Amino acid sequence: MRKVGFIGWRGMVGSVLMTRMYKNNDFESLTPVFFSTSQKGQQVDILGVGASVLKDAYAIDVLMQMEIIVTCQGSDYTADILPKLRNSGWQGYWIDAASHLRMHDDSVIVLDPINGDSIQKALDKGVKNFVGGNCTVSLMMLAIQGLLKEDLINWISVMSYQAVSGAGAKAMIELVNQMSLAGNVDITDSLTLERDIHTKVSSSDFPCTEFLTPMAYNILPFIDAPLANGQSKEEWKAQAEMNKILQKTPALPIDGICVRVPVLRAHSQALTIELKKSIALNDIQQKLEKANEWVRFVDNDPKLTAKHLTPMAVSNTLDIAVGRLKKTNLSDRHIQLFTVGDQLLWGAAEPLRRMLNICLARV
Ligand code: HSE
Repeated sequence: MRKVGFIGWRGMVGSVLMTRMYKNNDFESLTPVFFSTSQKGQQVDILGVGASVLKDAYAIDVLMQMEIIVTCQGSDYTADILPKLRNSGWQGYWIDAASHLRMHDDSVIVLDPINGDSIQKALDKGVKNFVGGNCTVSLMMLAIQGLLKEDLINWISVMSYQAVSGAGAKAMIELVNQMSLAGNVDITDSLTLERDIHTKVSSSDFPCTEFLTPMAYNILPFIDAPLANGQSKEEWKAQAEMNKILQKTPALPIDGICVRVPVLRAHSQALTIELKKSIALNDIQQKLEKANEWVRFVDNDPKLTAKHLTPMAVSNTLDIAVGRLKKTNLSDRHIQLFTVGDQLLWGAAEPLRRMLNICLARV
C-alpha cells in the first residue's frame, strides 16, 4: 500500500482531517506514517490506525520514502522542508494546508468540486504540489459555484465575519476564557452590566495575547498583515486565490473587508454581486442549489435564517448555507446573499482529504 506521511496531524486542522479520514475509512487504502517536529520516537494511538511510533519530521531520508506527504504544520515547515526534499530528488505528492505555496507557479490550489478538471490536468502535466485555499475563498466559491461556473459575475464585494478558529486553537480558548471572565458581572441592570463589562475588557490586564484587542463582546475589522494598497492580506487573498483556482484572466475583481468576530468555528460572508445580466431570483437559487451537494439554500425568511443560516447551524457540518438572496436598490443586476460554512471542514481539512484521495488514485 502507498506510504502517506502526515505532519501537523495533531493541530486543529490536522485533527479535523484525521477524524474525517477515519469516518470515511480513508486509512484503509494507505499506509500512514506519522511524523512529529518535537516528539519523534513517541508511541501514539491514532483513531482508526492504532499504535504508531512518531518519526522525525525533519528527517529528509525518512520523508523521501513517502509517496505522498500531507502537512498541516504551517508555512515555516513547508518553506524549510519542501525545497530540501525536492533538491534531494523526491518526486512524491505534497499536499499542504499552509498558505506558503499557494501562489507559486508550480502549485495548484485545490478545491476539487470547483477545479477538479484543472487538478487532473495538472497531475497529467506532472505537478506535484497541491495546497488548500484560504478558508473564506473556499467557502465563498462553493457557495456561489452555480454563478461562477456559468461565468455570470462581473464583480464581487464581500464582507466577512470570521471565526476565531481561523487564528488557531489558542485563539478559541482565549475567546472562551475572555467571555467567561468578562461576563461574570451583576446582570440586574443593562447599563451597569455594560459598563462593568466594558471596564473589564478595556482594562490593560485583561488577558489578550491572540489578537490586537480582546474578541469578547467585540469585533476586529483587520485580519492578517496590512498591505501598501490599504487591503489586509486576508482581503488580498480573495481575488488572488479565487482567480488562480478559476484560472481566470482578466481577473474577476473581488474586494471587501475581513472582520474577526467572536464566533468559534464558522466563517460567514455577505456578498454583493454584479451579475452580467439580470437573472430571476428563482433561477439564481436553482443554479446555486444544483452546483454542488453541499449548498443548503435558505429562503429569505427571518425564522429560517435564524434556524439554518448561522455559525451555530453549520458548525461541525460540511453544509454551505446560502441565504438572504435578494435584488438590491443598486439595480436588477446587483444581488446580495449571505453564506456560512465551517472554517475547519470545507474551509481547511476537506479539500486536503479529497486531494489525498485524488493522488492515491494516481500512485
Ligand atoms: N486566514 C483565515 C482566518 C484562516 O484568519 O480566518 C485560514 O484560512
